Amino acid sequence: MDIITVKDKSFKPYISEEDLQASVRKVASKINNDYKDGTPIFLGILNGSFMFFGDLLKSIDLECTVSFIKLASYEGTNSTGEVNELIGLKENIEGKDIILVEDIVDTGNTLVKLHEILSKKKARSIKIATLLYKPEAYKKHHPIDYVGMEIPNDFVLGYGLDYDGLGRNLSSIYVLND
Ligand code: IMP
Repeated sequence: MDIITVKDKSFKPYISEEDLQASVRKVASKINNDYKDGTPIFLGILNGSFMFFGDLLKSIDLECTVSFIKLASYEGTNSTGEVNELIGLKENIEGKDIILVEDIVDTGNTLVKLHEILSKKKARSIKIATLLYKPEAYKKHHPIDYVGMEIPNDFVLGYGLDYDGLGRNLSSIYVLND
């Protein structure tokens, strides 16, 4: 792995493909163990989770269904400011066990909003699985159930994560080289 340039920034190798895959298998094995008797719905949060989601699901040996969602935010027309809307969820999740799959948890805003929206749809349980977690940036108190790796508060790229839309296709993770 070498230093790479994406747009105007330089990134250096950070997490190898091998270490990533070991983390993915660790998360999968915990989930396999916790849901032995259930049929969870894996909900991938787009766009960033697509690579983690694919690799994770290859190591899941449970009966399960999969779907993808996206949180779109737009400015409200009144004074309440930002409004969040969930895109993509077609199935009825009432009484179901949900596993939300994130690429990275940073401030935690995304997962708390998603949790709020999904709770209103009366899921039986909602758990969070994330490949990466930045504890120093996390501002919420909501527990994160499955974490692949904790990382410092640095900007990372690759394996689904982007810089201005670029770099998602890299098979390992890079960090900003400053
Ligand atoms: P949060 O709502 O602050 O937890 O941010 C979650 C989203 O921000 C992730 O799903 C990513 O899309 C993006 N994000 C946070 N940190 C990084 C990073 O280091 N690199 C690329 N994207 C990031």
